[in-house]
Amino acid sequence: MQEKIVILDFGSQTTQLIGRRIRELNIYSEIIPYNKYPFGREAEEGIIGVILSGSPLSVYDEGAFKIDLHSLVGRVPVLGICYGAQLTALEYGGSVEPAPSREYGRANLAYVDAACPLFDGIEAGAQVWMSHGDTITSLPEGFSTMASTSDVRFAAFTGEAGMRLWGVQFHPEVFHSTCGMQLLRNFAIGICGASCTWSAASFIETTVAALKEQLGDDRVILGLSGGVDSSVAAVLLNKAIGDRLTCIFVDHGMLRKNEFSDVLRDYQGLGLNVIGVDASAKFFADLAGVTDPERKRKIIGADFIEVFDAEASKITDARWLAQGTIYPDCIESLSITGTVIKSHHNVGGLPERMNLKLCEPLRLLFKDEVRAVGRQLGMPERLINRHPFPGPGLAVRILGDITPEKVAVLQEADHIFIEGLREWGLYDKVWQAGVILLPVQSVGVMGDERTYERAVALRAVTSTDAMTADWAHLPYDFMAKVSNEIINKVRGVNRVCYDISSKPPATIEWE
Ligand code: XMP
Repeated sequence: MQEKIVILDFGSQTTQLIGRRIRELNIYSEIIPYNKYPFGREAEEGIIGVILSGSPLSVYDEGAFKIDLHSLVGRVPVLGICYGAQLTALEYGGSVEPAPSREYGRANLAYVDAACPLFDGIEAGAQVWMSHGDTITSLPEGFSTMASTSDVRFAAFTGEAGMRLWGVQFHPEVFHSTCGMQLLRNFAIGICGASCTWSAASFIETTVAALKEQLGDDRVILGLSGGVDSSVAAVLLNKAIGDRLTCIFVDHGMLRKNEFSDVLRDYQGLGLNVIGVDASAKFFADLAGVTDPERKRKIIGADFIEVFDAEASKITDARWLAQGTIYPDCIESLSITGTVIKSHHNVGGLPERMNLKLCEPLRLLFKDEVRAVGRQLGMPERLINRHPFPGPGLAVRILGDITPEKVAVLQEADHIFIEGLREWGLYDKVWQAGVILLPVQSVGVMGDERTYERAVALRAVTSTDAMTADWAHLPYDFMAKVSNEIINKVRGVNRVCYDISSKPPATIEWE
């Protein structure tokens, strides 16, 4: 049984980060909705410790998420974070009240109990990140303070001896808690006794064995997108079942310059059994004259399913549809009302329609872990490190209607920008980059000629998860070179702008 630390999700935005941090310690972690904990089954499930996450709720809110802590505490070590700590304090007889002012932002630990195993190697002065509206105003009987800041007396506490229970009101999982990783290490390794054997290599070994067992002699179909997730899923499945995996890579005509042929070659080089389908004529025909962004997306989605379905139906003995779904897509996040929002499907509706079972070998991995697995599988860096690229491709970067001519212009400009980023060593420093073709023409002068041509916008952002993003502060010299090259080489473009909007309030894509 795979040993694991369970993170019980009470709906905080940073729950996923807790899971990631534990995985960074080479310890397997699983995020479970707060009301799905397998009480009493810790040994069978391999659970060696539990972390209670934060929450957007107050412990006093009507419908505040609660769990039966008494059936959990004492069985395995428990660490409550923020809401998790407040819930624990309240449950055992302490008190929690609205903080006089919202305790938010950086703080420094003024006092630390040096003998506390949770604070091993952490000294007074360490920076932590607070974000809570309520605060613990008294601890339950028998509980002790393990750390304080100048404003927060019970920044950390522990339960009575033998309870193996700790709580912290700050967020050790966030970057700004500089001692956070050490604290989580102390909990997971020092207190829970994790053996730190979770690695890309161990994941591959156990997953390939599990896939062999799950799939038997069945045939599997997988839709490749050129992105890292579906590519790694394909190579992993190929390792497990070889030629019984058939991959389908659809060209909708709005991929990057040469992307279809380059990626297809990479896939074939990896020994994948892959069918490339050039369906660009159909997509262009169905998109002709359509300007509304949502309609464009819908048409592309529907066309994709039609093309994929037609191709996949030729493989009559297929039993499974494999997808490169990853952990952030799967984690059921909780809304304030407590409704569970289910994960999305990359190829919505297909498995039911085609009567196929779903196989998602990466569903427990975070993006960086997917990349580590890809590397371990010997995949080329250019496949592993590719920027995210939207499913509808350049269609969401052409404002207004889409024509093959506009796509060709955008492909050229995009190619210059992306290759430039690579040459200048900037490609891996940004999360994602691309060019947007604007529905704007402006006057210019080239030689002695007046021009009246299109404007493009360059977009490059830094991000960790695409939920928030900042515009990348690219060097001026680089932008000057790219702008020059685009205007000189791309016929039909005479103006280059740089998008300096962050997300929120803007989004990464323009449509
Ligand atoms: P936004 O524009 O919402 O994008 O800030 C966040 C991330 O999602 C990608 N994106 C898409 N991916 N289909 C996709 O597969 C889409 O329709 C789509 N729209 C945006 C975007 O490139 C960024 O990485």
